[in-house]
Amino acid sequence: MRIVVLVSGTGSNLQAVIDAVADGSLPLEIAAVGADRPDTFGVERSAAAGLDTFVVNFKDYATRTDWDAALLDAVAAYKPDYVISSGFMRIVAPSFINAFAGRYVNTHPALLPSFPGAHGVRDAMAYGVKVTGCTVHFADAGVDTGPIIAQTPVTVRPDDTEDTLHERIKVAERELLIQVLADLARG
Ligand code: GRF
Repeated sequence: MRIVVLVSGTGSNLQAVIDAVADGSLPLEIAAVGADRPDTFGVERSAAAGLDTFVVNFKDYATRTDWDAALLDAVAAYKPDYVISSGFMRIVAPSFINAFAGRYVNTHPALLPSFPGAHGVRDAMAYGVKVTGCTVHFADAGVDTGPIIAQTPVTVRPDDTEDTLHERIKVAERELLIQVLADLARG
């Protein structure tokens, strides 16, 4: 199974996947890592691991449609079985979803369908939930929508800040993502 991982930020989920592949516990090939912006730690981690790394910089394209087409071309060139959006902070075009229908997997730091969007952790805290968590799902054209594959609950502590809670969620998220990828790799 070949995957392309898309990242926007620090890439700690990506690192967990890189490490699991390297130690032989995850039977797949990371064909490439792509990002929507340069100079991120995620891009650095990928390059440091010797992986094919590409940036389709949102700012380099005159229109959204041009960027959509460039992202699709860049990813499709690697002929991945699955594309993993791991902290990739862009909604992709319907053309991308169609090209990878049922093969585009997203991770989200909340228990969907609650708290979709860019601030899932903050929004859950603001609501006052006592349990939140993370979700791995097949992404469709919506914002954090599409069939749920797996979820892990995480208890909110009274003294949590957004950062402490997100860090605990990310620990669960890495484990869940690797489990889901292992399941997909085994068919
Ligand atoms: C993850 O919690 C992801 O779900 C969210 O952003 C975080 C990415 O973290 N959208 P990292 O870049 O893998 O460290």
